[in-house]
Amino acid sequence: MCGIVGYVGKEPALPRLISGLKKLEYRGYDSAGLAVFDDKELCVIKQAGSVNGLETTTQKLCRPNITAGIAHTRWATHGEPNETNAHPHRGCGNGQACKIQIALVHNGTLDNFETLKSLVLKRGHVLRSETDTELLVHLIAEVYKDDPVLALRTALQQVQGTFGLAVLMAGFSDRIFFARNGAPLALGLSLKGNFIASDPLAFRFYTDRMVNLEDGNLGWISGSDYQVVNMNADKVENEVETIPWSLETAEKGEHDHFMSKEIKEQPQVLTQALRGRLLDDGTVKLGGLDSHQELLRMMQNHVFVGAGTSLNAGMISKIFFQELAELSADWESASELANQKRPIFPVQTAFWAISQSGETKDLLDALKTLKQQDLPCFGIVNKVGSEIARLTGKGVYIHAGMEIAVASTKAFTNQLVTLFLIAMYLRQIRGLPKINWHDRLLADLRKLPLLVTEVLNRENEIIDAAKRYAGYPNFLYLGRGVNYPVALEGALKLKEIAYVNAIGYSAGEMKHGPIALIDGGFPTLVIAPKQDDYYSQITTNIQQIRSRRGRIIAVATDGDDEIKNCVDDVIWIPQIDYYLTPILAVVPLQLFAYHIARLRGLNPDKPRNLAKSVTVK
Ligand code: M6R
Repeated sequence: MCGIVGYVGKEPALPRLISGLKKLEYRGYDSAGLAVFDDKELCVIKQAGSVNGLETTTQKLCRPNITAGIAHTRWATHGEPNETNAHPHRGCGNGQACKIQIALVHNGTLDNFETLKSLVLKRGHVLRSETDTELLVHLIAEVYKDDPVLALRTALQQVQGTFGLAVLMAGFSDRIFFARNGAPLALGLSLKGNFIASDPLAFRFYTDRMVNLEDGNLGWISGSDYQVVNMNADKVENEVETIPWSLETAEKGEHDHFMSKEIKEQPQVLTQALRGRLLDDGTVKLGGLDSHQELLRMMQNHVFVGAGTSLNAGMISKIFFQELAELSADWESASELANQKRPIFPVQTAFWAISQSGETKDLLDALKTLKQQDLPCFGIVNKVGSEIARLTGKGVYIHAGMEIAVASTKAFTNQLVTLFLIAMYLRQIRGLPKINWHDRLLADLRKLPLLVTEVLNRENEIIDAAKRYAGYPNFLYLGRGVNYPVALEGALKLKEIAYVNAIGYSAGEMKHGPIALIDGGFPTLVIAPKQDDYYSQITTNIQQIRSRRGRIIAVATDGDDEIKNCVDDVIWIPQIDYYLTPILAVVPLQLFAYHIARLRGLNPDKPRNLAKSVTVK
């Protein structure tokens, strides 16, 4: 959460900082700010609201020829999203407690915030904001003698928590200092100057050469050089890498929103996830798992761990593993697992950490708990080289391409197809006979991208349905078996981008409570594909709702006249094998939420209170 970008070099810094912030805004967008050296004077401009607002203010207040600065877009953790709490933060400036003028931007959170706060107050510092970040400024400025990197090293030893920091210090107008622990930071290198950012997306327009920083790295960049050291002051030589993607992948193109673009990319990215993995002879090849076959063969029990949409993918994968690979499987919410005092699992349990961003703090914490017990963890990650990919060190990338909209869409369907392949792979490497309908199932898998395209081509029907339902304040989403988590996912989409109360439930559980909610003003969306093993039970649930005068929208299989006659609206999907229905059924639910959000006048890409990567507890 939050975005950092800094630039120092020969070229104007402001356009680079503002364009970088715009690229990072999906990570947090409640306030923004920047600090620059204007004629060697350190000046800070910040305000509540979007980067566009900050851009207008800086155009009025700053000279255009400034060549060094740092900038930040915030997702509030400590203190309201107002101007005072926005970054950059500065010290108390009384010349005593703070020994140097500093401007600092921070991603992450400090765990020992209260202790540090009373410490700095006791030592005579004056705090302006309610943030944990401001404490870092006071701590660094207090220990400063004549070496900025030494001051960072000394001060940060007192800090528990996560940080990615970019810092300007008075008297060093040609340098940006940085430090990293648990929050991503990368350097961007170019002939006309160097960058620092929490995501290379911020500087990709200017350069494709970058250095990924590791936890415990700190140092500086100037316009023509950089230095990285560790907490013992030893020099660190991180590899200079070439960014493998172009900026177009992070542009909206002809689409109104990233969410719409990403929903429509699903056929193409599903193809990417299958390419080279599902072979013509029906075998599955997964390079990321091949060298771990021996370990995987021993694992009788599998646990999926994730948050939000990724957890929903894990819930479906439990059924893939149980029913297709004949393995014992379960799922755990990352935030709950991270807090469990003594999680106990059967021997020979493997964990599958599912994450689009590869940065989710809850999942990282859960993984650390598991790793302490030496348990085997595999990553199912979208972002290549991310924290979770590196921490697990083994696993399978989902290849969904960059996902920018806060609401996860194409990552979900690619997680599902990848985990489906893994289930088939585990069956294969354990030498089990092919499942009875193996050829038919794989033929359906191959057809998936085409069938998703068919669903997307029916968008107008979904827009019509969205128009009929946009005014309802509450929804119940129901499904059974593999489609129960799809109900959770559809409801999650509607909540997060349209701010509509939507409750996802297992259809069988409905009669144990939620049915009390049903009346003419509380519609139910039922996922009821004909090939669902639970079809007859779902139709019974539909009758139960009808008898209470509840309105019903069904996601049903083309040609299912039976269902058509007993619901108010139908969203049709093509016929496909039961185990693959989630991938088809979720697409109209994504579109339904997207269009309801638009009809309610909301920006689906930037839902309130949320950010794309949840890097805080
Ligand atoms: O990046 P991750 O997959 O680890 O993120 C997990 C959740 O934060 C994420 O899926 C969130 O629920 C999305 N906003 C859902 O659309």
